[in-house]
Amino acid sequence: MRLTLRQLQVFEAVARHRSYTRAARELHLTQPAVSMQIKQLEEALGLPLFEQIGKRIYLTDAGREMDHYGRMISQQLADAEAVLGDLKGLRRGRLDLAVASTANYFATRLLAEFCRRHEGVVFSLDVTNRERLLDHLERNDIDLVIMGRPPEQRPLVAEAFLENPLVLIAPPDHPLVGERAIPLSRLRRERFLVRERGSGTRSAMERFFAASGASLASGMEMNSNEAIKQAVQAGLGLGIVSRHTLALELRTGAVAILDAEGFPILRHWYLVHREGKRLSPMAETFRRFVLDAGPRLIEDTERPAPPPRPEDPAA
Ligand code: PGA
Repeated sequence: MRLTLRQLQVFEAVARHRSYTRAARELHLTQPAVSMQIKQLEEALGLPLFEQIGKRIYLTDAGREMDHYGRMISQQLADAEAVLGDLKGLRRGRLDLAVASTANYFATRLLAEFCRRHEGVVFSLDVTNRERLLDHLERNDIDLVIMGRPPEQRPLVAEAFLENPLVLIAPPDHPLVGERAIPLSRLRRERFLVRERGSGTRSAMERFFAASGASLASGMEMNSNEAIKQAVQAGLGLGIVSRHTLALELRTGAVAILDAEGFPILRHWYLVHREGKRLSPMAETFRRFVLDAGPRLIEDTERPAPPPRPEDPAA
């Protein structure tokens, strides 16, 4: 079997666009040249990679497998290019990051500061839930991931760099606001608004209630922190979210944190990559930046703004 990198590159573009025409445009090739490369690749493999139904094209089973390995090969090539580029003294680099949707509340600020310090960086950022982050690591199509503690059985390197307290929130006029050390039994009748399955916040919350023997009244499931905060403000129930998602709401008093037994549930944020992965120089620089400067930077940006100074009567 003889495959060429060019064929893989053309295959990757067609698979991504699901279109020969758009792939041809991206690669500055003619459409027949793209079809020819795919045909030769299919002949080399002895299996069809795409099927056309009506006007649309789909990946076959073999196509999906090829897509999986093609991504890993492209990532390895990108790693090699970045390492060699650095040896040549280039100051540019690509950074492919994926972060838990909850971590995005501070990750974009980290990235903004990093881009200010390293003007040549070009990055991509996938904001998604825990399950999909683990898929990224499995496929090795990403440099670094920011997430809660990954499962120990996986071949990953995980470095904790920041606390992630999960707090219980209520609308500001809720009768439990202001009470101290609320026993969990008092929460039994409350309705809870919970994150979707696959979210790290959700599984930490489930572990917490299972360990404490308290059962939760079934609540509504929502797939974003923003939706949960809005619903809590609207009085639909109580929510459990990371303290990092609340900078704005605590500043404006839109929600209140309840002082309940066992809260906050203390978790940590980890910077994660695959074991044995050679981080590109840019990814390694970002890793050091997050571990060394991240906690301080995040703390500074989340600190409540000082109250406005009373107006100067003489002004
Ligand atoms: P998530 O993130 O709830 O947005 O998935 C948190 C985590 O990974 O712990």
